[in-house]
Amino acid sequence: MTKRQDLAWWQKTIAYEIYPKSFYDTAAQGSGTIAGITAKLDYLASLGVGAIWITPCYKSPMVDNGYDVQDYRQIDPSFGTMADMDELIAKGNEKGVRVVMDLVFNHTSEQCAWFQESRKSRDNDYADWYIWRDARPDGSAPTNWRSIFGGSAWAWCEERQQYYLHTFAPQQPDLNWENPDVRRALIDIANFWADKGVGGFRIDAITYIKKPAEFVDGPADGEDGMYAVHAATANTPGILDFLHEFKAAVRDGRDIFLVGEANGVAADELGDWVGERGVFDMLFEFSHTKAVSCEDEVWCRPIQWKLTDLKRVLAESQANTADNGWYPIFFENHDQPRSTVNFFRCEGSTADKAKALGTVLLTLRGTPFVMQGQELGYANRVWKSLDEFDDLQTRSQYEFALTEGRTEAEALAGCNRFSRDNARTPMQWNDGKNAGFSEADTTWMPIHDNYAQINVEAESADPNSPLSWYRRLAALRAERDELVAGSFEELMAEDEQVYAFRRQGEGSAAVVLANLSDEPAAYDAALVAGMKLLVGTHGEAEAGSLRPLEAVVYGS
Ligand code: GLC
Repeated sequence: MTKRQDLAWWQKTIAYEIYPKSFYDTAAQGSGTIAGITAKLDYLASLGVGAIWITPCYKSPMVDNGYDVQDYRQIDPSFGTMADMDELIAKGNEKGVRVVMDLVFNHTSEQCAWFQESRKSRDNDYADWYIWRDARPDGSAPTNWRSIFGGSAWAWCEERQQYYLHTFAPQQPDLNWENPDVRRALIDIANFWADKGVGGFRIDAITYIKKPAEFVDGPADGEDGMYAVHAATANTPGILDFLHEFKAAVRDGRDIFLVGEANGVAADELGDWVGERGVFDMLFEFSHTKAVSCEDEVWCRPIQWKLTDLKRVLAESQANTADNGWYPIFFENHDQPRSTVNFFRCEGSTADKAKALGTVLLTLRGTPFVMQGQELGYANRVWKSLDEFDDLQTRSQYEFALTEGRTEAEALAGCNRFSRDNARTPMQWNDGKNAGFSEADTTWMPIHDNYAQINVEAESADPNSPLSWYRRLAALRAERDELVAGSFEELMAEDEQVYAFRRQGEGSAAVVLANLSDEPAAYDAALVAGMKLLVGTHGEAEAGSLRPLEAVVYGS
């Protein structure tokens, strides 16, 4: 049986995702800074957070908010300087909050010096650093692939008289990992950051780095006649060879972790990706977010789902990392709507939903990843028009919905429900100007209307707030070994209201029961026989029954 002392630091901690533009602004400019993260390290430590994944803050034209990197060795001036970053890493390490950098290695910005060279001719030193192909005889793009952000995945380059592939936006050309010089350059960048003392890396969009040997059209999957690039290129055989090389050159011999973003890897493939024979320490796979949202991430084709659908895929991921590898638990990130909306099909208070799902997040087996604001119980914002959104994907999803025959009102409603901007509104620190996020007159993205109630200061003072609940559960994880190292056994797998499981440790066990519905629910009191209530969202609890959206943790 696994013991807490045998686990690595990153398996025992809580990780927290920071969207730096929206975290805390120390420059009165309306968007967040690196110094703003340093200023809030104590807040993060108070949540039991030992690792902060910061989404890209490198020099970038910010077409995709930093996921279009111009220079991987510079901090974007809007966030501050490299000295600010060095200070954050050093102070974070002192306080036990390690920085995790986001490596965007499937593509660069078109402004990256490598691409600027590559586009000039077919025979310069960087000519083969990206994916270039000739036009078809009629001048059209080499294949009918649709980029993830909509429109063709190919963009024409006048200078080179060729098309280049972009899995995401046209300003994000895909790198050619087949070229060993590209792989070497990326490894050097990762080591540049590892040498600075960061605690790990989140590796972006990694399943797209290997392209198929032949580029061929796929059957049209939408009214636009195109075929999703994801279906054509994700998780292509041979990808793991690249990643083994990367792991050996960057990870081996260091006390850091690698977590890959792996859309397209199924729960039952986890064994090839993590653990003994794997390439990463953890993998963000999306079987559970897909179980609740929409077909192929096209939100205008939402799916119907039941709690058992969600529980089934989570149980599978737990089983597949039970003896090999480790699981990063997440219900939110900067690409997902807020979990209080996304994972519930019922009415009821947002704060109760945040606490009930937060209980699952902090007690499943694995390392929990909390998205900034999740601990406060954010809901989606109400967006009144397309103009209010910043995210380029939201705009293209709106257009796509129209091509699929939706009305403008339906398209806007879909964006409200699914837009990535829901996760990106500024952090709410207090009920003052701009929710304490910034001293500027305007902020880069609107503040959520609910900030007077939902903010760090107010919730710290309220023992029943989501924030206080997160702190209690973080303290419980620190005390109870089974919640960190214990095994996972699902209980009541067929129940459509209650998510229940048992964590068995070496001399202690815990049973977690979360009613994710807004109706009272019953369970067999024998499941908690001989155990005592450790924590409950609604105070005292009665064994055998749960109030709407109530969550409890019993322990022996
Ligand atoms: C990942 C990021 C997302 C970004 C995309 C392109 O999915 O999480 O925010 O837009 O990659 O880099």
